[in-house]
Amino acid sequence: MKGKKTFEDLFHDELRDILDGERQITKALPKMIKAASNPELKEILEKHLSETEGQIDRLEKIFSICEIPLRAKKCEAIQGLLEEGETLLSECEPSATCDAGIIASAQKVEHYEIATYGTLRTFAEVLDFDESAKLLQETLDEESDMDERLNSLSRTVNAEALDEFHETEA
Ligand SMILES: [Fe+2]
Repeated sequence: MKGKKTFEDLFHDELRDILDGERQITKALPKMIKAASNPELKEILEKHLSETEGQIDRLEKIFSICEIPLRAKKCEAIQGLLEEGETLLSECEPSATCDAGIIASAQKVEHYEIATYGTLRTFAEVLDFDESAKLLQETLDEESDMDERLNSLSRTVNAEALDEFHETEA
């Protein structure tokens, strides 16, 4: 067998990664809420901020079920995605165009989370960690709903951003 890391270690590594990711997201969301102009977008992001706090609680519960210390590991991927989002915010004025960019950034983060929670849920199932698998599935469902909410809002926001684009051309 290659290496010393076990499958269970891998599960714990992913948990530590996403715990840090969620903590970073709770710090980034208020900035995105402030920058958003569309009231529905603000509302969706606000709802997700409170969902994210609940997701952190679920993760803390899983750490305790697994009897491992509550320790996060820097999630470079979410850090990078959030930094890209901040750059975008610094480059645009409040507008539908800016909102379209906020939605794009938020969806990139959601997709990373969906990938991670999908993996974690499956690992938990394979390891017979039934309670953890259930908690991870609950979070995965919330992340998928959030992605869907952003998808449907993007239809209106993109149409408005296109109008703004045409106005600059006129
Ligand atoms: Fe999350």
